[in-house]
Amino acid sequence: MTEAQFIPKTYTKAVENGSFTWSSPSNIALVKYWGKKKDQIPENPSISFTLNNCKTTTTLSFSKKTDKEKFSFDVFLDGEKKDGFKPKIETFFKRVETYLPFLKEYHFKIETSNTFPHSSGIASSASGMSALALCLMSVEKELLNGQVISSAVDKPQEDDAYFIQKASFLARLGSGSACRSLEGDLVVWGKNDFIEGSSDLFGVKFPHQVHDVFKNYQDTILLVDKGEKQVSSTVGHNLMHGHPFAQERFKQAHENLEAISTILQEGELDKFIALVESEALTLHAMMMTSMPYFILMKPNTLQIINKIWAFRAETGSKVCFTLDAGANVHVLYPEKEATTVLEFIQTELAEFCQNGQFINDKVGFGAKLIKSE
Ligand code: PMV
Repeated sequence: MTEAQFIPKTYTKAVENGSFTWSSPSNIALVKYWGKKKDQIPENPSISFTLNNCKTTTTLSFSKKTDKEKFSFDVFLDGEKKDGFKPKIETFFKRVETYLPFLKEYHFKIETSNTFPHSSGIASSASGMSALALCLMSVEKELLNGQVISSAVDKPQEDDAYFIQKASFLARLGSGSACRSLEGDLVVWGKNDFIEGSSDLFGVKFPHQVHDVFKNYQDTILLVDKGEKQVSSTVGHNLMHGHPFAQERFKQAHENLEAISTILQEGELDKFIALVESEALTLHAMMMTSMPYFILMKPNTLQIINKIWAFRAETGSKVCFTLDAGANVHVLYPEKEATTVLEFIQTELAEFCQNGQFINDKVGFGAKLIKSE
């Protein structure tokens, strides 16, 4: 697959207006993407659990306009106009225009809402960009009279597969990790030697049978710091350029992806814990050892990590943690431990969260078309 595959054939249907609604979940990486080349090409492969409850729902309404010189759109979050979101979407439109040549022909109204609080420190870019990419793909499908066709082939593509793949490709151009939010339960992004069909251009479903212990895996997100991100992920990725440990880190991510592939199939929980926690701390170590350097954890993040380690040592629980590029902690555990771990979270970890807040989530199965008009 190359980028050219995502340039569509000439549109065949005249469409004046319409509206599509998609909901798309967030995801949490187990092997982390950190460092990118031009056009959101990752420096290393990553794999994530798709989440179920943390999601964005976006309605994209479109109507034909006469002026075809400029992009034209308005953005609303929870019914409130958000001009602050426009530059990011304008950049996204510019990046994907070659692949969605209808963008300047319509005025768009983008209405979006998240199931998680906006200022929770949970990034909405993965769920938001994937929901928007899917809405745009629905528009394209309409313009192609229901048959999504690439300019690179004569026949319509295997419909759903190509639709999702192109949506993932577009989402990646909005926010890298967004390309892992379309399907579930595990998605791999980034070319590597172990996952067949893996690509730098889009996410692919983990192709192997996953052990039962990982079915319905739980993720409770502890909201340690709900403020704006201290360092944007763009700045963070850029700090990997010329980073003294970058090449070793990229190599390690390949090794960890190969290892986790076996772990997921064989259900080796102790190895899963070691790999996932090491990945989280490595991501933060990269930020601590870049120039300029950052500490994204807060004292309460460390309190929680130590509590999790003590609980595991005392009880033999298989609970573990992972981190995003921030202070919040994702607590991961098998479904059969849900009652005991939730009690542990309530009694011992909630006090380290802002206003005692946490969000219960679990592994999910990807985006859904909610409405098309
Ligand atoms: O998609 P971005 O550019 O916001 O980067 C996300 C990076 C991490 O969340 C830290 C790791 C990952 O793989 O999701």
